[in-house]
Amino acid sequence: MTEFKAARVLPDHLLANARVLPTRNALIPLLPRNITFCEVGVALGEYSELVLDHGGVSKFIAIDLFTLHEYPEMWGGRIGTELAGRTHAAYFRDRFADELAADRLQLLEGNSTDMVSLLEDRSVDVFYVDAHHSYDAVAAELAVIKDKIAPGGWIILNDYIMHDYMTNTPYGVVQATNDFMIDENWEMLHFCLQSGMFCDVAIRKVVD
Ligand SMILES: C[S@@+](CC[C@H](N)C(=O)[O-])C[C@H]1O[C@@H](n2cnc3c(N)ncnc32)[C@H](O)[C@@H]1O
Repeated sequence: MTEFKAARVLPDHLLANARVLPTRNALIPLLPRNITFCEVGVALGEYSELVLDHGGVSKFIAIDLFTLHEYPEMWGGRIGTELAGRTHAAYFRDRFADELAADRLQLLEGNSTDMVSLLEDRSVDVFYVDAHHSYDAVAAELAVIKDKIAPGGWIILNDYIMHDYMTNTPYGVVQATNDFMIDENWEMLHFCLQSGMFCDVAIRKVVD
């Protein structure tokens, strides 16, 4: 059994400007405008579509392993049904054909930290982190993201929860996020509730 590691307690000053929202979707209209947005772990693009539909995103970078076609039985068989014989990347390209044609969307296929490393420093306004949810994976992603984020940019982390009770999988998102916030001086801007408490948090670097 995996040993449980409690998250470090966030100090008051990193929570003073935090606002609670009812859902992650409620955060989308509050995003800065004319931004470069990078979603790390897009799956079938459900959240990507909501963000792109919002209209405030000039450039959208979609990072994923793009290997979901290897798991057609996942999500109760929904993956196989939706992909309908296409590869994961082909499905995503079809779904967002207009965005690709308009040169508004870039796909980066591969491991999250490797793909984020390819981005220019200080070039992304908002990262949405929703790939592997282990402590090591999230900590590694945050370690590369911090050089890629533009001044004043946001990092949103999905599944800010200790344990996935649906699949009985321990998560490390809370511990990795809190460590990053404390060690790198990032404050919480938004805490987005979710009906099963698979919450999101949006964080921003404190200006010294
Ligand atoms: C929970 S799903 C993302 C859901 C999506 N953000 C949404 O809200 O609609 C997680 C995705 O992360 C991808 N993923 C998992 N581990 C990864 C890694 N190490 N590097 C890149 N992508 C990864 C999976 O392929 C999957 O598509």
